[in-house]
Amino acid sequence: MSSSSPSTATSATGTDEGAVITSRSIKSIYVYEAPVRLWHWVNALAITVLCVTGYFIGSPPPTMPGEASDNYLMGYIRFAHFAAAYIFAIGLAARIYWAFVGNHHARELFSLPMFSTAYWKEVLTMLKWYAFLIPRPNRYVGHNPLARMAMFFMYFLLSLFMIVTGFALYGEGLGMGSWADQLFGWVIPLMGQSQDVHTWHHLGMWGLIIFVIFHVYAAIREDIMGRQSVVSTMISGHRTFKD
Ligand code: HEM
Ligand code: HEM
Repeated sequence: MSSSSPSTATSATGTDEGAVITSRSIKSIYVYEAPVRLWHWVNALAITVLCVTGYFIGSPPPTMPGEASDNYLMGYIRFAHFAAAYIFAIGLAARIYWAFVGNHHARELFSLPMFSTAYWKEVLTMLKWYAFLIPRPNRYVGHNPLARMAMFFMYFLLSLFMIVTGFALYGEGLGMGSWADQLFGWVIPLMGQSQDVHTWHHLGMWGLIIFVIFHVYAAIREDIMGRQSVVSTMISGHRTFKD
C-alpha cells in the first residue's frame, strides 16, 4: 500500500494521491437540518443557564457584603432565569413547528413507536451493547432507539412540565390576572399550593440534569465506540458511517 511506504516526496509534503485513490469513500446522509441543529445548541445553553440560576434560586448564596441596596444579586439571577426560560419555551414551540415542516428525523423527538415490536427489539440491542453483551451495535441514521426513548420522556415531556410549572410560578410574580396567571395559574391548586410547585419544579431540574449527564456521555461514547458519527452530526447535520 502506498500509504504504508510513502515516497520521500509524499513524506515531505503530506500529499499521497495513491492512498486517496485506493481509500474507501465515506457514506454520508443529511439527517439534522439547520434549524434543528441551531435549536439544539441554543436549547443546551438555555438549559445550562436555567439549571445554574434555578439552583441558586432554590439555595440562595449567603448574604452579600456591604449595603443591601448596593447589590442586586438575586435580581440578576432571577432575571437570567426568566430570560433563559423565554428562550427555552419559545425555542421548544419553534422546534415543534419544525417537526411539522422539517424532514422525518425532525419528528423523532416527539413520538415513540411504542407498539412496534421492531422498535423494542432495537432498544434491547442497544441495552445489550451498553451492557457489553454484544460486540457491535447496529447502524442508526436517526436517533438510536434507546436515545429516542430518553429524549421523549426525559427531555420532551419533562421540558413541558418545567414550562408549565415555571410559568405558573412566574404568574405568581406577575400578579393575579396576568397572562401567565390566566394561562398557567390552575397548576398551583392542582399540585396543592405554591411551595409544592416549587418542589416539583426543583425536582424536575434534577431529572433534566440526569438526562444531560447520560446524554453527553452517550453522545461522546457512541462517537468513539459506535459505527456512525454522532457529535459532528449535530454540528454539520451529516451522519457518516465508519464501516
Ligand atoms: C443541556 C444540554 C443538552 C440538552 C438538553 C440536549 C438535548 C438534546 C435533544 C433533545 C436532542 C434531540 C434533538 C432532536 O431530535 O431534535 C439531542 C440530540 C443530540 N445531542 Fe444534545 N443536548 C445537550 C447537550 C449536548 C452536548 C454537550 C452534546 C455534545 C457532546 C450533545 C450532542 C447531541 C447529539 C450528537 C445529538 C444527536 C444524537 C444523534 O446523533 O442521534 N448534546 N440533544
Ligand atoms: C430547564 C428548565 C428549568 C429549570 C431547570 C428550572 C429550575 C428552577 C429551580 C431549581 C428553581 C428553584 C425552585 C425552588 O427550590 O424554589 C426555579 C424557580 C423558578 N423558576 Fe425555573 N426552571 C426551569 C424552567 C423555568 C421556566 C420555563 C420558567 C418560566 C418562566 C421558570 C420560572 C421559575 C420561577 C418563576 C421560579 C421561582 C422564582 C422565585 O421564587 O424567586 N423556570 N427554577
